[in-house]
Amino acid sequence: MNSRFALVLFLFFVIVPLSKSSIFKPFSPKSPLSSIVFPISGNVFPLGYYSVLLRIGNPPKAFQFDIDTGSDLTWVQCNAPCSGCTVLPPLQYKPKSNTVPCSNPICSSLHWPNKPHCPNPKEQCDYDVEYADQGSSMGALVTDTFPFTLLNGTILQPPLAFGCGYDQSFSNAHPPPATAGVLGLGKGRISVLSQLVSAGVTRNIVGHCLSSKGGGYLFFGDSLIPSTGVTWTPLLSPDNHYTTGPAELLFNAKPTGLKGLKLIFDTGSSYTYFNSKTYQTVVKLIENDVKSTPLKVAKDDKTLPICWKGPKPFKSVLEVKNLFKTLTINFTNGRKNTQLQIPPESYLIVSKTGHVCLGLLNGSEVGLQDSNVIGDISMQGLMMIYDNEKQQLGWVASDCKKLPKS
Ligand SMILES: *[C@@H]1O[C@H](CO)[C@@H](O)[C@H](O)[C@H]1NC(C)=O
Ligand SMILES: *[C@@H]1O[C@H](CO)[C@@H](O)[C@H](O)[C@H]1NC(C)=O
Ligand SMILES: *[C@@H]1O[C@H](CO)[C@@H](O)[C@H](O)[C@H]1NC(C)=O
Repeated sequence: MNSRFALVLFLFFVIVPLSKSSIFKPFSPKSPLSSIVFPISGNVFPLGYYSVLLRIGNPPKAFQFDIDTGSDLTWVQCNAPCSGCTVLPPLQYKPKSNTVPCSNPICSSLHWPNKPHCPNPKEQCDYDVEYADQGSSMGALVTDTFPFTLLNGTILQPPLAFGCGYDQSFSNAHPPPATAGVLGLGKGRISVLSQLVSAGVTRNIVGHCLSSKGGGYLFFGDSLIPSTGVTWTPLLSPDNHYTTGPAELLFNAKPTGLKGLKLIFDTGSSYTYFNSKTYQTVVKLIENDVKSTPLKVAKDDKTLPICWKGPKPFKSVLEVKNLFKTLTINFTNGRKNTQLQIPPESYLIVSKTGHVCLGLLNGSEVGLQDSNVIGDISMQGLMMIYDNEKQQLGWVASDCKKLPKS
């Protein structure tokens, strides 16, 4: 499995008690704030992640970051020196006595329940993040400038706090990431978005558009959001992640009996994970359906747990999508009932040997317990909008190739 999905498990439990209103200044809807846009590169398969280049320091140096709406902290592999770094020293960040002291309030947003830290206010603020796939990064918080050009043409260099990761470990189950770091896009106070909002740079909104052909774009702020056509559903609050629900799952527009689902939207996950019961039901429905097609199980293909072969190798998911049905997430909360479609091309991949494989996985197998995680595969071809001001998640179909006119 080439899935590297990041869900911070214990970092998040600490951010809950912080009251949002005390952290974020409310901005009026007509606020003149601009937005920041970054081109995205990457794909679901074979790469397994989407990334952006961020420049840090003066003179600026560019680093490649895995974009992750499932965690808050941004960190970069750091030559302090480093243990467990996967990029070479010239591609690592070099700290220069710019560590954040424990006395800085931003440090307290990193407290862990079972690991008291920072007894001395003058000491450096250490961090330790663990992801759901058992990978972890340890290091110290540092501050440095991030040169950005806003959409309105203004050039800014805000100082931002981030992790200088000098001790990484990765589980055997997953290959180490090829990126220099992780860009945490969660709503916690330590995230780059929250810091930009506090500095009055953008509104508290982040969004992305992941193209099924690879690439796309990421944005902070509201400038790119179309004024019509966006479907919205409430984000559950308080919640550490971008969680929606409850929802019921439909298969081929028919009820599956699966109800009350909560779904976490996580770009740090390549594939979509369901809890054991949901996974079992969905797989049964799909397998039953495939029986009436020319597809046969391809046991020899280890790309993902379930693959099928056709009469001849496939080159693209588009060749097989007619053999599969659409899954629909029917949100049953809120005043208006809304639906998110997951068509076959948003849950299937074509492997290197030309088999079609199921990109829906059993979350219990990777320790996710009861969570359902909507990963990159199911967000392709959509502009996704995480609006932390109105506590809602929006989506609208898009080819993600060209920036929409603002
Ligand atoms: C561009 O936006 C920033 C904040 O997002 C604002 O401070 C600045 O004044 C704006 N510049 C122009 C030229 O509108
Ligand atoms: C999902 O994974 C769990 C934990 O490994 C396992 O007990 C369960 O049987 C799996 N469910 C299915 C449908 O494969
Ligand atoms: C979706 O959910 C709504 C609200 O519970 C319900 O009224 C509607 O029938 C559902 N749609 C389908 C196709 O099941």
